[in-house]
Amino acid sequence: MKEFYLAELNVNQDFTDFFMLRSLDIRLGGNKKEYLDITISDSSGEMSAKKWDITEEEAEQLKKIPIGEPVKIKGIVTEWNGIKQIKIGKIRQAVKEDKLDVKEFVRTAPEESEDMYEYILGAAQSMKDEQLKQLCTELLEENHEQLLYYPAASKNHHAILGGLLYHMKRMIMSGKALCKIYTNVNEDLAVAGVIIHDMEKIREIESNSLGISPGYTFKGELLGHIVQGIVSIEEKAEKIGLSEEKKVMLQHMILSHHYEPEFGSPKRPMFPEAELLHYLDILDARMYDMEYALETVEPGKMSNKVWTLENRKVYKVKNP
Ligand SMILES: [Fe+2]
Ligand SMILES: [Fe+2]
Repeated sequence: MKEFYLAELNVNQDFTDFFMLRSLDIRLGGNKKEYLDITISDSSGEMSAKKWDITEEEAEQLKKIPIGEPVKIKGIVTEWNGIKQIKIGKIRQAVKEDKLDVKEFVRTAPEESEDMYEYILGAAQSMKDEQLKQLCTELLEENHEQLLYYPAASKNHHAILGGLLYHMKRMIMSGKALCKIYTNVNEDLAVAGVIIHDMEKIREIESNSLGISPGYTFKGELLGHIVQGIVSIEEKAEKIGLSEEKKVMLQHMILSHHYEPEFGSPKRPMFPEAELLHYLDILDARMYDMEYALETVEPGKMSNKVWTLENRKVYKVKNP
């Protein structure tokens, strides 16, 4: 049983427990000595941890610990720039004899993956447009297995087990609500855009079956889910005989969903469903990041600066 959860650790607290290793780097310190710089997580959150002044042999050994596996750490909580981090005394990879329950280490979406998948598949199957319905249903079914665990990112928003499904489901729910207000929007096209917009994250980032991603795939690194998505729609459209107009509109929705060239979109949205898709995406990502940042904040206090929210702090209401 886990005893110490990251979100509950206080500054100067000593502890020994297991955590999930999420990233690992060996860096050179100001004193010209190497140090270990890792990110660890458990079901309560994540934290940065450092082991200072390590030898070359130690660095070689530590580099071999695989990302996405639990490690045992003996350490103490310190504070740097107002942010808690861990100073590691000892660290080792977990072994079978430790008999760990992985659920204690993994953050999961608050809903069951199969339920979220059924909701999204239901939204695809209830489309009136037969071609969009077929395209979305096939894409969902082909990716069913990975969708059940894939995160929506390797870091940042929805980097949790089932995160991609959770992102898609909440965007569809918001999208359907907004379609009742903006009645000029074609709901089938808007929902199809949500279903396809990040689908190629499955091939852009790597993930183990716990939804932990060590980083990008080769294609993901060099092309990214926008270009990969456009290629996948090209292939699917050919196979199911999708009209040229719908194919190009879907591709444009993928192309423009990040809005700005510096975030990977060469064009901005050029029709209402594409504009709506971008705002559904950004809304869901920011709401998630705010909710996540506030999880460990006391009422009436501010969170740490959140990088994905342009370094804003988030305030937690005292008297709700
Ligand atoms: Fe995206
Ligand atoms: Fe997205």
